[in-house]
Amino acid sequence: MDLRVKAGAFDANLAADALVVTVFEGDGLTGVSATVNEALGGQLERLMTSGDFSGTLDESLTLYPGEGLGVRRVILVGVGPAAAFKADPLRRAAAVGAQRARKLKASEVVFIPEAHEAAELNLTQAAQVITEGVLLGLYRYHGQKSDEAPAADLTTLTLLGEAVAELEQGLKAGEAFALGTLFARDLKNLPPNICTPEYMAQRAVAMAGEVGLRVTVLEKHQMAALKMGALLAVAQGSDATPRFIVLEHRPDEADKLDTLVLVGKGVTFDTGGYSLKSRDGMIGMKGDMGGGAAVLGAMRIVAALDMPLHVVGLVPASDNMISEKAYRPQEVITASNGKTIEIISTDAEGRLLLADALVYAQRYNPAAVVNIATLTGSIVGALGHAAAGLFGNDDHVREALLSAAASSDELLWHMPIYPEYAQALESDTADFKNSAGKGGGGAGVAASFLSNFVAFPWAHVDMAGMMSAQDQNGVPYIPGKGSTGYGARLLAEFVRQWSS
Ligand code: BES
Ligand code: ZN
Ligand code: ZN
Repeated sequence: MDLRVKAGAFDANLAADALVVTVFEGDGLTGVSATVNEALGGQLERLMTSGDFSGTLDESLTLYPGEGLGVRRVILVGVGPAAAFKADPLRRAAAVGAQRARKLKASEVVFIPEAHEAAELNLTQAAQVITEGVLLGLYRYHGQKSDEAPAADLTTLTLLGEAVAELEQGLKAGEAFALGTLFARDLKNLPPNICTPEYMAQRAVAMAGEVGLRVTVLEKHQMAALKMGALLAVAQGSDATPRFIVLEHRPDEADKLDTLVLVGKGVTFDTGGYSLKSRDGMIGMKGDMGGGAAVLGAMRIVAALDMPLHVVGLVPASDNMISEKAYRPQEVITASNGKTIEIISTDAEGRLLLADALVYAQRYNPAAVVNIATLTGSIVGALGHAAAGLFGNDDHVREALLSAAASSDELLWHMPIYPEYAQALESDTADFKNSAGKGGGGAGVAASFLSNFVAFPWAHVDMAGMMSAQDQNGVPYIPGKGSTGYGARLLAEFVRQWSS
């Protein structure tokens, strides 16, 4: 799709297949909606007073102005009451408008971004979220279907306005944020026989070349040399060998800048291992590399926008399988920092991968490390599908992530790491157990386990409840099925805010 900014304002001569106009609920027509209403001879106002269109969130209606106006269709999209307006209703509206335009087989869609002072949304941000909404909302995953020809997509998105520089900046940011998210969605939607650790690494290398990231992929023998005994224990049950993906964004004078490290769990399929999952519990586990996909997507965004920070992305990627070679409960393994771990459950594998990756992160002397993972079913019990859990050891990193969550609308909720969780992991035979085995608070226990491997300001995002689209009821820019791409925008926004 062609994305462009056009200098100008709405008038009767504006030619387009479809113009999308946002409308507040119950607050009268303002700005572009008022101008368009006038051009339509008051039709919008009549629709609203008659109650046929009220501007509720995600509501939409298509008008056909006919002669006298250059636009073929005006697609009205409600954004709810002005008092509650912020970036997300606009992102949603852009998705609704674009989806409707596509359904009507329009090829070009025009938006006229507006700043909203009360919502603290400037023109650049408005342009960014509109672009995000359009690109995220139009995403489709075709999978491996042999017969389905994808229907035509929109060809052009135009942002119209006088402040060309601001619009272009927003368009560029929105495109980067969306493409990073779509990269994560695509990877996570792929089946586990295609999306192996090796494949993830190949995609990461190709993406790095596209946006100018440095990339290194460690193979098994290099992990062995680094004594990554925890990662290797998980990996040893699968014929698909593990990969440890290292992406690095090094802008000019990187040595003078803060280093942030992002770490994502890349379990390409989680059977549970010998602590086998149930047949239902295994469905969805092709998405257990969602944290890793989020980190790759975030790195794509960071590089595309050349953010002024030294940023490293680490993705330990492995299957978790059963075989004669697979690790077992009661084994004691040694992580790369020399700590010993008694395996209670082979299904608590994500924390083992992350342990070695967190130890690896130390070499960068990071200002902050954020890891993200589909780590526990327990966080889904605690927070459902409304937010991911946020754990950590540092107020500043936590506040920065909560702020990034508010801007990206990839929500986080702060969770505790109580000393009692560490007690639950005390082992008779090793430094700690990998799972408490019984007792509640599993998400906190997992976070407590990870905290043994960090010696820097750190946060852990447990996104197990956010990986699947069917759980994100009806957000128009998230597909109804498959992967959400959760986390890529959140992490990139965290980096962006850290650098400003
Ligand atoms: N990948 C799962 C967590 C998960 C569950 C993600 C449901 C998405 C949806 C993880 O590896 C796991 O199996 N965790 C166990 C830990 C337990 C054995 C301590 C869990 O949550 O049950
Ligand atoms: Zn597991
Ligand atoms: Zn897992």
